Amino acid sequence: MPTIKLGVNIDHVATVRNARGEKYPSPLRAALLSQKSGADSVTIHLREDRRHIKDNDLKEIRSKLKIPLNLEIASTNEMLKISLKQKPSYICIVPEKRKEITTEGGLNLNFKKNFLKIMIKKLKLKGIRISLFIEPNLKDIKRSKDLGANCVEIHTGKICNLINNNKPFKNEFIKIQKAVKYANSIGLEVHAGHGLTYKSAQILSKISDIKEFNIGHFIIGESIYLGLSKTIKKFKRIIK
Ligand code: PXP
Repeated sequence: MPTIKLGVNIDHVATVRNARGEKYPSPLRAALLSQKSGADSVTIHLREDRRHIKDNDLKEIRSKLKIPLNLEIASTNEMLKISLKQKPSYICIVPEKRKEITTEGGLNLNFKKNFLKIMIKKLKLKGIRISLFIEPNLKDIKRSKDLGANCVEIHTGKICNLINNNKPFKNEFIKIQKAVKYANSIGLEVHAGHGLTYKSAQILSKISDIKEFNIGHFIIGESIYLGLSKTIKKFKRIIK
């Protein structure tokens, strides 16, 4: 079976830095250490309120990172402008609500549909790989294809909650499995992310055709005990 790629989301290095208004810990240093430790890409989410990653983090990481940078953004004019200027290798378009703690669900693909289509077209013209962060349902997968996306990232929040709370997760697993199969059949590359831990990543890695996991909060938390490098290496072993 081909190995699943690991994208390491380092937003919460910036969360810790911003908690004290200092220059450390440095997201750039975390990005470069992730690269050295075997990450296949580094993910950062430039949120509208800049609560963790700041514009300067994006610029620095963009200019120094050799592996692909995956930039998560909301579908807004501001983010489109920044992305066209910075030209990261990958973009994942995500929904964003100001009051949410984290990205709580997949995109509503019926909302701002025309803007999304134009945005995807403009970004693809710059050679950027476009992914849409969606719930595991067939309608949204078809819509993603129609909008011109290269990939979909399946929101794994629900199944991860079930697994974390020792609740039955088989139905959600089957739903994701079907979504992955369908997306593949219509030519979309499939990624998965949100709330993943060692256990949930291992369970989901059994679904063939998921090409990439994007993991953040658990990796940064686990790094307190194990260190970033060892945590990344452990994840790579688990999902291979
Ligand atoms: N993928 C996407 C699209 C996300 O928005 C996030 C959260 O920023 C993640 C993956 C990573 O989620 P977590 O931090 O829970 O691992």
